[in-house]
Amino acid sequence: AERTAFIAGLPKAELHLHIEGSLEPELMFELAQRNGVAIPFASVEEVRAAYAFANLQDFLDIYYQGMGVLHTEQDFHDLTAAYLARAHADHVRHVEIFFDPQGHTVRGIAFGTVIAGITRALDEAETRHGITSKLIMCFLRHLSEADAEATLDEALPYLDRIDGVGLDSSEVGHPPSKFQRVFARARSLGLKIVAHAGEEGPPAYVHEALDLLKVDRIDHGNRSLEDPALTRRLAAEGICLTVCPLSNLKLCVVDDLAAHPLRVMLGAGLVATVNSDDPSYFGGYVNANYQAIADALDLSRAELITLARNSFTGSFLDDEAKARHL
Ligand code: ADE
Ligand code: ZN
Repeated sequence: AERTAFIAGLPKAELHLHIEGSLEPELMFELAQRNGVAIPFASVEEVRAAYAFANLQDFLDIYYQGMGVLHTEQDFHDLTAAYLARAHADHVRHVEIFFDPQGHTVRGIAFGTVIAGITRALDEAETRHGITSKLIMCFLRHLSEADAEATLDEALPYLDRIDGVGLDSSEVGHPPSKFQRVFARARSLGLKIVAHAGEEGPPAYVHEALDLLKVDRIDHGNRSLEDPALTRRLAAEGICLTVCPLSNLKLCVVDDLAAHPLRVMLGAGLVATVNSDDPSYFGGYVNANYQAIADALDLSRAELITLARNSFTGSFLDDEAKARHL
């Protein structure tokens, strides 16, 4: 209970959050009804029961299906506003949110509709709660680089609201090298660069993300620890890892949170952070992730403070804003 209060009181940033992964079953039903979309579940309980995953792909199949209820600007707004209210309750002061435009444009939803709904909620949260934000557009790596290029073209009118690009979806078989050209173009446009790497994929994918995509941050990065030279490099370069404990447990990246590598990461001097990834699907928002991993590894207050500080250090806030939080 003491630890719970301590975690709750820590000001923190969340750096790895897929907004479509914050769609709670209750809102899924509401939007399905509002938009006349059929969903293959009879109740909220049935939806939750379907959230049993053996690996990343099991989850992704149901995640892409779930986002099918999102149609209008208001839907994207309501989704984002609900997440921001939860984040505010968890004492989150800054968020860097991923969205998956290709999961929507493939269904005929306009890119501008998605951006307008999300950014309206972000603006409201800054006014109401003082939560600052960055928005990161992810490319789906199971699709082609040409598809990612077309998505970057669609984003050009909205670059005043997009701070970075990322790479997500099915990792194994879709290495960072597949997207080298589109990330080079994104970089030339001044966008920050992140990529999911080393979640299910090998350390070589983390090397590629660094050397070929020139990432500013690694999402997950768990398997980096299999490569001591890579681990030393990540520490020396101060590359932030956005780690997601409950996600790792639910997607069987780890068998047990007691075997989670977070403490080893901190011990190796890595800028590791704690994040919720897809909280509706994985059973908890950011404080629940801190709590679960702190309980499993018996993390000290000093370690929890380091994790919360790392979330600002690793953020894309400018130095002045970082200094205000640190
Ligand atoms: N899309 C949403 N969550 C993801 C994750 N944890 N890994 C890869 N793609 C994702
Ligand atoms: Zn993720």
